[in-house]
Amino acid sequence: MNTIHRLVTAVSLASLVPFAHGGEVEVLHWWTSGGEKRAADTLQRLVEEQGHTWKDFAVAGGGGEAAMTVLKTRAVSGNAPAAAQIKGPDIQEWGELGLLTDLNDVAEEAKWDELLPKQVSAAMKYDGDYVAVPVNVHRVNWLWINPDVFEKAGAKPPQSLDEFFTAADKLKAAGFMPLAHGGQPWQDGTVFEDLALAILGPEDFRKAFVDLDRDVLTGEKMVEAFAALKKLRGYVDNNAAGRDWNSATAMVMNGKAGMQIMGDWAKSEWSAANKIAGDDYQCLPFPGTQGSFAYNIDSLAMFKLSKDEDRQAQKDLARTVLEPEFQQFFNQNKGSIPVRLDQDMTEFDVCAQQSMEDFKSAAQGAGLVPSLAHGMAASSYVQGAVFDVVTNFFNDPSADPKKAAQQLAAAIQAVQ
Ligand code: BGC
Repeated sequence: MNTIHRLVTAVSLASLVPFAHGGEVEVLHWWTSGGEKRAADTLQRLVEEQGHTWKDFAVAGGGGEAAMTVLKTRAVSGNAPAAAQIKGPDIQEWGELGLLTDLNDVAEEAKWDELLPKQVSAAMKYDGDYVAVPVNVHRVNWLWINPDVFEKAGAKPPQSLDEFFTAADKLKAAGFMPLAHGGQPWQDGTVFEDLALAILGPEDFRKAFVDLDRDVLTGEKMVEAFAALKKLRGYVDNNAAGRDWNSATAMVMNGKAGMQIMGDWAKSEWSAANKIAGDDYQCLPFPGTQGSFAYNIDSLAMFKLSKDEDRQAQKDLARTVLEPEFQQFFNQNKGSIPVRLDQDMTEFDVCAQQSMEDFKSAAQGAGLVPSLAHGMAASSYVQGAVFDVVTNFFNDPSADPKKAAQQLAAAIQAVQ
């Protein structure tokens, strides 16, 4: 074959391939654990099937702090990715910078306004325009337990905070690690948030972490929440510092530890190991928070792009995220529930089914609260201030709960 012939053959072959002019989407996220990666791969596959190129921009680090730092650097140098996992009130901050593009045509065509719960669609819009697409709904207030370990220790799955500490004592006495925890600020913050929700209840939780009400932040219940955190510290091993959340999940899975306090992305690890919900492991609403649902919605915000084909790839990505096929496969692997309320849940496991039921009933009453530790309740500055106080408290055995509550209010005030 001479060169001309080869060229002609290549051109005619290309014309047979659908979407030969696919674009590229670079997607920033922090879904890097085994289970999370399986979920992210679903999106990559669906985008690639549409003829586009997926450029993975994964920045390891649970909770996403490292990813956000990298994103800021990239955005400042005028080189933002097509899509980035940006959540909650932070979407508004990025919108204000004028860097996000609008997805209104995709949203109108696919009727996002009708598909999504009102609070969710409002959070995805900046100045009335859709600039982000929601991926899922995670629940933060969960306790994960290994039933075999519980049985061996003669412990009972806890329904209240008192029962939680009783179970922890039993596990400890039987030689197990009661609580698998990773000492990282966002994990300390996640545990503290669950304790605060149990002790303050959803209304005061909202007053504290959404309204940033000084009286509630320094009140008796907040002091009690810090005291509970201090007590809980006694059931965490000495090697917790720096441990990743998925390593902690593995410790519960392999029978070393009895429990983990974590949002339901922890389920992604259990699913990836082919463990069965309700059988090999149990998910319990965090003791004392039954009826409440601390939500954490993952979402992809879209940046302005210059090339038409990349814009098209970006739109196809956004549309795909809210389609039922993606919602099912992704969420089954990610541990979350679909963000579409009309999704058929029959193929989901018992934890996801319970989560969906609890989400809907919490939404009807006062029980639905935004997670502070996962960027839903307040800005990343407030979140960072809370993490600092909580982590310092957690790592200082002599710290005083009353002082910590005062410090909490002061730290929040300082960043407002
Ligand atoms: C994110 C989840 C992620 C988890 C652990 C959360 O803040 O919303 O998608 O799985 O952090 O990294």
